[in-house]
Amino acid sequence: MSTASPIVYLNGQYLPVQDAQVSVLDRGFLFGDGVYEVIPVYGNKVFRFAGHMDRLCNSLSAIDIKNPCTDTEWEVLFHELIKRNPADGDQSLYLQITRGAGSSRDHLYSDNLQPTVFVMCRPVTAKKYDQGITAITHEDIRWKYCHIKAITLLPNIMLRQLALKTDGSSEAILIRDGLVTEGAASNVFVVKANRISTPPKDRTILPGVTRDLLVELLHQAGLNCVETEITEQQLHDADEIWITGSLAGIAPVVKLDGRRIGNGQPGVQWKVAVQLFNAYKQSYKG
Ligand SMILES: Cc1ncc(COP(=O)(O)O)c(C=O)c1O
Repeated sequence: MSTASPIVYLNGQYLPVQDAQVSVLDRGFLFGDGVYEVIPVYGNKVFRFAGHMDRLCNSLSAIDIKNPCTDTEWEVLFHELIKRNPADGDQSLYLQITRGAGSSRDHLYSDNLQPTVFVMCRPVTAKKYDQGITAITHEDIRWKYCHIKAITLLPNIMLRQLALKTDGSSEAILIRDGLVTEGAASNVFVVKANRISTPPKDRTILPGVTRDLLVELLHQAGLNCVETEITEQQLHDADEIWITGSLAGIAPVVKLDGRRIGNGQPGVQWKVAVQLFNAYKQSYKG
């Protein structure tokens, strides 16, 4: 990324970030009434565009906002923004759509509000996980529509901050009714005796694009990967735990609640998963 001020997209305009302004009556600001996406850009190419667009459509329709752009319009917009923010390495796009600004603060909204559309481009540095990461477990204190990628992230923020404060942990793995849901900002995979499990997609988790790709790659490689419930006990007894996300990639959890997972090092299956993922990414980059 150049040292010049980043250019962002806001409601039809490309502007230096410091010139981009929204109304204080915007419902995103007042209520967190909006949704978002984080999309990796590898070698100037938008990664898993279709997966991110599908999820965006689902999030928007779940909260009754009309998608302001077609897929083609999004594609044009993303490429224009990438062109205006030249970078040597990988980047990510942050896209946020709120319901827009009303005439006063009111929970109820009218159908004729103009959504606020904001997109920015950020540099991404590839993460190294030679030492693995540590995590805590915590009760899933979030709401019951976690499949929506809502900008309202207060519980996630509190959980990740708690993880950091507890023992410098990077993630909180969440438990609802005795079952693992996901991380505060990631999906979860558990390995036990060559079986790789991840919780099924339902309203208790965000359908991660990285998760879906990894499941696909593991199946293609003939590995035993199942989408099934994982109990809290199974999490603690795992040989390996991984968390996945668009920015995190695939991270091996080597310590959970202060106790070692497996031998306390990134596991062999994790290495296989990362190789599959990196090979896919590399071929995508071309
Ligand atoms: C709660 C939650 N689950 C899962 C994920 C991973 O999703 P993706 O792989 O699409 O980045 C994220 C990413 O931000 C998240 O916030």
